Amino acid sequence: MKCVGIDTSCDDTAIGMIDENRNIIAEEKMSLFCGKYGGVVPELAARNHLNYIDKLFMEVTGGEKIDLIGATVGPGLLPGLVVGSQFAKTYANLMNIPFVPVHHLEGHIEAAGYKNYPFIALLISGGHSDIYICHEFGKYELMIKTLDDAAGEVFDKIGRNLQLPFPSGPYIEQLAKNATIYHEPMVAMKGQLAFSFSGLKTKTLRINDTPENISWFLQESIALTLKEKLSMIIERTNIHKIVVCGGVSANLTIRNHLNSLNAELIYPPLSLCADNGPMIAFAAYEHYKHQTKYVNNYNIPEFSRMSLSEWNI
Ligand code: KG4
Ligand code: ZN
Repeated sequence: MKCVGIDTSCDDTAIGMIDENRNIIAEEKMSLFCGKYGGVVPELAARNHLNYIDKLFMEVTGGEKIDLIGATVGPGLLPGLVVGSQFAKTYANLMNIPFVPVHHLEGHIEAAGYKNYPFIALLISGGHSDIYICHEFGKYELMIKTLDDAAGEVFDKIGRNLQLPFPSGPYIEQLAKNATIYHEPMVAMKGQLAFSFSGLKTKTLRINDTPENISWFLQESIALTLKEKLSMIIERTNIHKIVVCGGVSANLTIRNHLNSLNAELIYPPLSLCADNGPMIAFAAYEHYKHQTKYVNNYNIPEFSRMSLSEWNI
């Protein structure tokens, strides 16, 4: 079985093809960064998706017949989402194969391929810092959500201030390795079941030091904050299995901190942490396997925000 997943939720046009055993047969990704605007411009990103989607799709599939196609319908930037999901719907309709609308965050969780329910999922990306309890496939309970800046967003905003390329997370991780002064890290919203990183962002911006020392402080503070919230959730739920996913989960210092929690920690392979096509194909295939209400559901409009707990099967 050949299943294709398409993600156009942000600035990457990402397409991947998998088989029913989670093998990645092919994948392609094209990034557009509007450097001169300092971030992603939704309309420009959408035009870029439109320019590349056919070519990338042909490269991934080799023009051969596929059996299932899924595309992200949200959350993300609407103009880009429309390009990917309309492409997939049209293709499915013409070729008479099933179409599956995919929730981007479920794709991130599926990238880890963990099936030992129930487990905790920490989702840390450019748009989210959320903790869910995953009771079973398609049954998610939101425990903590992003109140303001997401973890990745803070990396990117501080990175912009340090004049680093976007997305800045990986650059901050590298710089932090060469820190010489270790400012006392801050646990954001200490003792509270909430993620708010705006105070940490302000504190970081006020530190007058080298990029290396600022990077160390920021990374350490984010790691300790994530660890504190997870340990509260472990205590509350008595669940000791944690999937950590989303772009920020590629950060090895953060992984090291989380690994000291009293739990089994599961991460996607590094290549599947950031947005990618295969993760959307994994999620689409799971829905197909479970024959959920999303299979061949053409009626879900693209959306910019929606928690995964509203995506239950
Ligand atoms: O999941 P993702 O690719 O896109 C969204 O769905 O948002 O996550 C992108 C975010 C960016 O903010 C980027 O700076 C961050 O993930 N990121 C990292 C690292 N690699 C990517 N943050 C910290 N350390 C990293 N190594
Ligand atoms: Zn993402």
